Amino acid sequence: MTIYSVHSICCIGAGYVGGPTMAVIADRCPHITVTVVDLNDSRIEAWNNPDLNQLPIYEPGLEAVISRARGRNLFFSTSVNEAIASADMVFISVNTPTKNKGIGAGQASDLRWVEACARQVAQYAQGHTVVIEKSTLPVRTAAVIKAILDTPQCQPGENEALPTFSVLSNPEFLAEGTAIRDLEQPDRVLIGGDDEVAVDALSTIYSYWVPTEKILRTNLWSSELSKLIANAFLAQRISSINSVAALCESTGADVREVALAIGTDSRIGSKFLSAGPGFGGSCFKKDILNLVYLCRHFSLPEVAAYWEQVIELNNWQQNRIAGLLVQRLFGTVTGKRLAILGFAFKADTNDTRESPAISISLDLLEEGAQLAIHDPKVDPLQIARDLHKSPSNSSAGLNGEGTWQFSPTVRDAVQGADAVLILTEWDQYRKLNWQELAEIMRAPAWVFDTRSVVDPVEIAEAGLLMWRLGEGVD
Ligand code: UDX
Ligand code: ADP
Repeated sequence: MTIYSVHSICCIGAGYVGGPTMAVIADRCPHITVTVVDLNDSRIEAWNNPDLNQLPIYEPGLEAVISRARGRNLFFSTSVNEAIASADMVFISVNTPTKNKGIGAGQASDLRWVEACARQVAQYAQGHTVVIEKSTLPVRTAAVIKAILDTPQCQPGENEALPTFSVLSNPEFLAEGTAIRDLEQPDRVLIGGDDEVAVDALSTIYSYWVPTEKILRTNLWSSELSKLIANAFLAQRISSINSVAALCESTGADVREVALAIGTDSRIGSKFLSAGPGFGGSCFKKDILNLVYLCRHFSLPEVAAYWEQVIELNNWQQNRIAGLLVQRLFGTVTGKRLAILGFAFKADTNDTRESPAISISLDLLEEGAQLAIHDPKVDPLQIARDLHKSPSNSSAGLNGEGTWQFSPTVRDAVQGADAVLILTEWDQYRKLNWQELAEIMRAPAWVFDTRSVVDPVEIAEAGLLMWRLGEGVD
């Protein structure tokens, strides 16, 4: 039996997926040299920063893993070509955003970075290299990668053999905020490919810490499709419970009670049933759009429409939150100070990609609100990029212009506010002293809780008005 032994790994793309995944592989496999490369030199500089608080991404547990492996067998570098040349295995973990123009705009994935990577690998790899798709990709992308790799990029010199490649799909299922736990104790590892030797080589790496029965092998296309479908199912659950939340508000039911009641049915299960302001993150929307595009491509319009509705419901949920807040504040928020608690798309991450806080804040700015935004981990510069607007320390008052400022503390955000809108379930928002906060707000003051983090009794005792997502009024 042929065994392909791996001594050196290169990962192209030092983002939310590539960084933590390679850190855990390096931590668990000290005998393998892992080099994570990226074109973005400030990102690489941040990964190499001796101050672990300055890593480019925030993930609980990441610092400990980095401090054990970095400089030992884990390296971050901008020398992409050298890292490819010395690697036995190359992971492609670059960004695959939704195309914003051309064929498939708004739905298909933009594969320009994946293609550029494949070309670079084809040009610089030496000997035999296993190339692994880590980024979420449309089904049959492996065929594109294979076609590029199998086209010689330059003529080999005399006595030099042409490089050879095997392509595998190994999608990542980690969720941000729990990335390290998900990587260290995955529900499963999925490896798609028909080259048994290459699949064995990758499986061997994971088997250093993942029980063998959790390492699933499929064909390439099943592996690529499974990643899209896993995300589509998860997102569908959130849109389902968010649709129920709206119905609860109208009928006098409570979505938390309904979620508990249905979640105790073991066939349904209790996870992913928290109603909220809508799903965000880099994957759900992008992957469903991708799935919709794929269905249309294969002439399955009914299937496409079915999945598209998951996104439509998500957009509706975000819009309706801004709308009902305005309605409760006497129909206008112009010139009113609103404290936004949480800007990240979920707790325990500094990532704001597709965060519901972005569209909700934009809607409120459009209404002329003065937003005071707090988030324990998101960089204010990122908020400015997301809102396409610089912060302003002076209120625009009643002239109709919406403004925003970053508040370093919750107290600072809430000072003088007419309403508090909680958009991310950061733990610290569960422990706020509402008696104290009520004293510094402008009455009649409201708390809008989209994440079920506050205790309604405490809010009532503090003399504040309250709206909770999914809570009907008798
Ligand atoms: C997701 C998948 O979970 C992960 O397997 C995949 O690899 C990448 O996409 P991620 O986007 O990081 O991970 O976070 P996730 O925990 O899935 O949350 C996504 C969004 O759904 C967040 O905005 C979150 O707040 C929201 N959500 C999640 C809810 O509104 N309710 C829930 O019950 C769960
Ligand atoms: P993800 O959430 O999937 O990890 P990110 O956008 O956080 O996505 O990270 C992808 C990274 O890939 C970015 O830092 C980007 O600079 C990097 N990248 C994209 N194309 C290339 C390339 N050809 N070579 C090296 N790095 C690349």
